[in-house]
Amino acid sequence: MVEIKKEIIIENAKQHISEGKYDVALDMLLPILNIEDLAVSFEYAKILYFLKKHNEAIELLKKLNNKYPNDNNVLDILSKSYKETGRIEEFVNLLEKSLNETNIEFCLELANEYYLEKNYETSAKFYNRYLNSKKDALPVASKLVQIYNFIGQRNKAIEISSEYLEHIEVKGNKFLSNLFLNELEIAQEKTILQSNPRIMLVALTNRCNLKCPMCATREESNCWDISEDFKEYIIKNLPNLELITWQGGEVFLYKGFENLFLEASKNKYLKQIIITNGLLLNEHWVKLLIKASYLDLTISIDSIEKNAYETIRLGAKFEVLLANLKYLKLVRQENKSNITLTMRITISDENVYSLEQMVDFAIEYRFDIIVLSPLDIEQHSFTKYNYFNKSKEELMKLKELKIKVLEKSRKNNIKIIDTLPDINPILDSFDIGNENIDETNANMADENNTCCQKDEIKIHEEVEPLKMPLCLRPWRQIATTVHGKIRPECLCLKNVDLAYQCEDFSSIWNSENMQEYRRKLINFDQAWCCKECINNIVSDEHKKFVCV
Ligand SMILES: C[S@@+](CC[C@H](N)C(=O)[O-])C[C@H]1O[C@@H](n2cnc3c(N)ncnc32)[C@H](O)[C@@H]1O
Ligand code: SF4
Repeated sequence: MVEIKKEIIIENAKQHISEGKYDVALDMLLPILNIEDLAVSFEYAKILYFLKKHNEAIELLKKLNNKYPNDNNVLDILSKSYKETGRIEEFVNLLEKSLNETNIEFCLELANEYYLEKNYETSAKFYNRYLNSKKDALPVASKLVQIYNFIGQRNKAIEISSEYLEHIEVKGNKFLSNLFLNELEIAQEKTILQSNPRIMLVALTNRCNLKCPMCATREESNCWDISEDFKEYIIKNLPNLELITWQGGEVFLYKGFENLFLEASKNKYLKQIIITNGLLLNEHWVKLLIKASYLDLTISIDSIEKNAYETIRLGAKFEVLLANLKYLKLVRQENKSNITLTMRITISDENVYSLEQMVDFAIEYRFDIIVLSPLDIEQHSFTKYNYFNKSKEELMKLKELKIKVLEKSRKNNIKIIDTLPDINPILDSFDIGNENIDETNANMADENNTCCQKDEIKIHEEVEPLKMPLCLRPWRQIATTVHGKIRPECLCLKNVDLAYQCEDFSSIWNSENMQEYRRKLINFDQAWCCKECINNIVSDEHKKFVCV
C-alpha cells in the first residue's frame, strides 16, 4: 500500500517536472525523501539540478553515487552539475573512475573535456577507447586522426586513416574520403597530394565601400574580382571543404557571391564564414543568410562610438550599422535562426580601453562570439597593437580589463576568441628590474616594433625537437590574399605565392612552390614561415587543426 502511494507521488512529481513546475514537485517529494530510496532521491536531486541549485544537488547526488556507484542516471546528472559549476577536476575524476561498457558515452564527454583543455594526448586515449566500442562513429574517427597528426603520433594516424578509408560509409562519401586520405598523406609526409584542399579562405574582390586607413586594400590602384576560372575551381572543390571563409574587400560587392554562397550551402559538412563590415546587409541578404544551416556571419566593428567608428571605418555611417544590426537581430529572433553572429574587433590603442562597453554592445545585439584581433600594420602610420610602448601600470590595467571582459562575456554566453599577444611575459619582465626593461624595450621597439622579438628569444631557448611540421595548413588550405595572390595561408607574410589570378588553377595545389613549401616544413626549415607562426603568436591549433 505504501509502495503504491509512493509510486503515485513519484508519477505526479514527474508530471509536474515535465510541466516545469519544479517547486511543486519538490514539495511533493520532500516528505518521502530518503537516501535508501533511489527513485525518490534521484527525482529530488534532478529537480534541484533543474532549479540550478547545484550545491544542494551535488551533495545529494554524491551520496547517491557512493551508495549506487553503477547507476548511470545519477552519474549523468552529477557529472553535468560538476561541469556546469566549473568543478572540472571533480567532473573528470568522477567519470574516469566510473567508466565501463554500459556508459561508454561518458568516454566521449571525457575526451571532449580533455580536448577543450588542450590535453590532446589524454583526449586521444579516450576518443580511441570510445571508437573501439563504436566503430561507426565517423566524426570521432575524423577528430582522432587529426589529433594524432597534431601530437605527432604518425603511425596511429596512418592506422586510423587507412582503416576508415575502407569503411563503407567513407568510401561512398567524397568529403570523408578526402578527409581521411588527407590525414594519411600528412602522416606519410607526402609533398604531392592526391587529396584536395579542405579549407579555403577567399578574398573575392578588393572592391570596398569603405577606405579604412589601416587596410591593405587601400594600396591597390586597380579594382579586381576573382577570375571566372578561380570561381570554377572553388565550386569544383566545395564538396571537399570543411571550412570556407569569404571576405574582400567587401563580399557583397562581388556580383557572383550569391551564387557561390548558395552553392556552398548545399554541402552539409561545410561551414561558411563571411567577414564583412556589415554596412551592405540589406533585407534580401539578411533573409537569405539567416536560413543557412552552418554559417558564421562575422561583422567587423572596431568602435561603438560614432566618431571613432567613422574615423576607423572611413566612409561609413554609424547609424547604418546600427540599423542593420537591429534588423538582423529582429529577423534572427523571428526565424529562430541558428547562424552564429560574430563581432570582430581589430584592437588598437584607440579602442582597447572601451572593450567592456563593446561587450555590452555585443550582448544587446545578440552576438555569439567576439574575436579580438590585433591591428597589424606594416606600412601605414597607424600604430601596430603592441605592449612595448606601455608602462607597467598600463599593462596591469589592460590585464585587469581583459579579465573583466572575459568574465562578462562568459556570464552572457558570449565566446571570446582572443588572438592578442600574451601580456604576461611582458609584465613578468618588469620584475627583472627597470634598467633591463628599458633597455630591452628599446631594443625591441627598434626591431620592427613588434612583440615577436621577445617571444622569439624565449621560445628559441625552450624549444624541443619538433616532431611534426610547424604548420599543416599547406596540406589543407588554399588562401587568397587581399592583393589577389594565392598562398597556403593569408597570414603568411612571406612572398611565397602559388599562382596569380589568371593561371591554371587545377595545378596550384601541387605546384612547385606548394611542394617546396611542404618539403621545407617537413625538414623543419622555417625560411618561408612568418615570425608570427614561428613564435607561436599564431596558435598551434590554428596551424595544425582544420576547425578549432
Ligand atoms: C580586410 S577586411 C575584409 C572584410 C570586410 N571588408 C571587413 O572589414 O570586415 C577583414 C578584416 O581585416 C581587418 N583588418 C584590416 N586591416 C587590418 C590590419 N592592418 N591589421 C589587422 N586587421 C586588419 C578588418 O578590420 C577586418 O576585420
Ligand atoms: S577593412 Fe574591410 S571595410 Fe575597411 S577598407 Fe578594408 S576591406 Fe574595406
